[in-house]
Amino acid sequence: MSNRQRFTDKVVIVTGSAQGIGRGVAMQVAAEGGKVIMADRSEYVEEVLKEIQSLGGDAVTINADLETYAGAQAVVAKAIEHYGRVDILINNVGGAIWMKPFEEFSEEEIIKEVNRSLFPTLWCCRAVLPAMIKQQSGVIVNVSSIATRGINRIPYSASKGGVNALTASLAFEHAKDGIRVNAVATGGTEAPPRKVPRNAAPLSQNEKDWMQQVVDQTIDRTFMGRYGTIGEQVNAILFLASDDASYMTGSVISVGGGDQG
Ligand SMILES: NC(=O)c1ccc[n+]([C@@H]2O[C@H](COP(=O)([O-])OP(=O)(O)OC[C@H]3O[C@@H](n4cnc5c(N)ncnc54)[C@H](O)[C@@H]3O)[C@@H](O)[C@H]2O)c1
Repeated sequence: MSNRQRFTDKVVIVTGSAQGIGRGVAMQVAAEGGKVIMADRSEYVEEVLKEIQSLGGDAVTINADLETYAGAQAVVAKAIEHYGRVDILINNVGGAIWMKPFEEFSEEEIIKEVNRSLFPTLWCCRAVLPAMIKQQSGVIVNVSSIATRGINRIPYSASKGGVNALTASLAFEHAKDGIRVNAVATGGTEAPPRKVPRNAAPLSQNEKDWMQQVVDQTIDRTFMGRYGTIGEQVNAILFLASDDASYMTGSVISVGGGDQG
C-alpha cells in the first residue's frame, strides 16, 4: 500500500481498467484509499478487482460498452447507486486499432477508430456532468496521446485531438461549477502483452512495417530516446486527479519523454 493517501473516500471511475494504464490507475487509486468503479467491456476486469480486494482495497466492476451513451450512463449510475457520488472520472478507454497510412483506411475503419478513441470520453463526460454539477465539485482526467502529431494513425490522432479540445472547452464551461478537466498526452508506453487485443487479426508484413514506423517515429521524437512505463503515466494522471493539481484546469500535459505531441 502507498504511503500517500490522496484519494481517501473519493469515488473514482476508471474506464478501460481491465489492463494496461487503466489497470495501473485503478490499482493505485485503491492503494491510496479511493473507492473505485472499474468499467470495462472485458471480463478480465474481474481479475483486477480480485487483486485490489486481496490488497484490502475498495472497488466494484461494471461491464459496459463505452462506445455507447447508454454504457456511459450505466457506469455513472453504478457509481451513484453503490457509493452515492462521483468525485473523479478518469477517461482511459481508447487506443489505435490499426496503424497504416491514411489512404489505406476504409470508411468503416475510420468510424471504428473514432468510436474507440473519441466517443467513450465524450459520452462519459456528458454522463457524469449532472452529478458533478449537482455536487458543485468534480475532477475529470482524460487520457489523450502524443499521437496528435504522429504518422500512420490519422483517425486515432484526430480522435485524441478531439479529446484535447473537449478537455479545454469543458474546463472553460464548467469551472463555475467547481469542476476541473485536464488531460495527459500519453507517449509510447511499455506494457505486458495485451490480454484484450486492440485488433485480434494477424498482421500482414505491411502492417508490421507500418507499426514499426510508428515505434521508430515515437522514439525519434522523444528527447529521452525510450518508451515510458505504465507507472510513469499513472503518476501524471493521478497528479491531475488529486488536489495537488487544484489550480489546474483545461491543461493537456505531455508525458512523452519530451515529445510534446
Ligand atoms: N499504450 C500506449 O503506448 C499509449 C500511448 C498513447 C496513448 N495511450 C492511451 O492510453 C489509454 C490506455 O491505453 P492502453 O494501451 O493501456 O489500453 P489497452 O488497449 O491495453 O486497454 C484498453 C482497455 O479498454 C477496454 N475497452 C476498449 N474498448 C472499450 C469499450 N468500448 N468499452 C469499455 N471498455 C473498452 C479494453 O477491454 C481494455 O481493457 C488509451 O486511451 C490510449 O489511447 C496509450
